[in-house]
Amino acid sequence: MILLLAGTTEARNLAGHLAQSGLRTIASLAGVTQNPIDYPVETRIGGFGGEVGFLDYVRSAGVTAVIDATHPFATRITERTARLCQEHDIPYLRYERAPWRSRQGDTWHDATSYEALSDMIPEGATVFLATGRQSLEDIGPLLSGRRLICRVVDEPSEPFPYEGEWLVGRPPFSEAEEMKILEAFRPDWLVVKNAGGGGRGKLDAARNLGISVAMIARPPAPDGVDRREQLLDALEWAEMQGMKTGAMI
Ligand SMILES: NC(=O)c1ccc[n+]([C@@H]2O[C@H](COP(=O)([O-])OP(=O)(O)OC[C@H]3O[C@@H](n4cnc5c(N)ncnc54)[C@H](OP(=O)(O)O)[C@@H]3O)[C@@H](O)[C@H]2O)c1
Repeated sequence: MILLLAGTTEARNLAGHLAQSGLRTIASLAGVTQNPIDYPVETRIGGFGGEVGFLDYVRSAGVTAVIDATHPFATRITERTARLCQEHDIPYLRYERAPWRSRQGDTWHDATSYEALSDMIPEGATVFLATGRQSLEDIGPLLSGRRLICRVVDEPSEPFPYEGEWLVGRPPFSEAEEMKILEAFRPDWLVVKNAGGGGRGKLDAARNLGISVAMIARPPAPDGVDRREQLLDALEWAEMQGMKTGAMI
């Protein structure tokens, strides 16, 4: 049984290929998004309950290999899973999309941490945060004196805690959709995590509209683990594991 740590578009796409290849797979979601889009494989939802819970789960579900396709900024689950798999001899693959690279005409400013944003973005600016809800509590206090628009997937139950507003929207967004959104809010800055993958539309829209981008660099990835950036390479790895462990249906 392959355990696919999920929560990204890449994970959902890979799940489809794993199912087609006849590899027994269970996708795991953290449970942070309400009504997540269905996966084409069996799915479990919610944290494992720490290290012990994860190892218990691996044993009881008969997990023979782990593919970690969580978001590049989901650092805790990745660090822990890579480490536990190494310690317990469980084959582990980090499947992580390549970071975005700037194109001609982009106005990107690299931020190595959230703290760098307060020096980078002047007071009085309007700032569109495409960094997700969880990052607002870290970024919000650093950007006081700026007007913030924070895009979130689920309708918030609480009022916006800073100067500014929520914007509810579920990705993916095309470049044309991002143009409309950015034209409506006219931010001076767009703050983005360098997630890579298909969410580039906002970056292309920002370039077209002359909006400055604060690009938050990825946190360091675990050392010494198998990694793949391409779906077919990750699938090939899974098929190899399936052959070794008999994880085929
Ligand atoms: N961070 C982002 O910017 C971002 C963006 C888009 C999507 N996501 C997705 O949202 C999820 C949570 O992100 P995060 O940054 O809060 O993660 P995190 O800080 O790395 O992990 C926090 C805790 O969430 C649980 N968890 C995380 N991913 C899980 C999964 N796939 N299946 C089961 N439990 C999981 C684990 O709980 P236990 O200790 O109880 O096992 C983990 O200790 C991830 O799966 C990620 O792919 C994150």
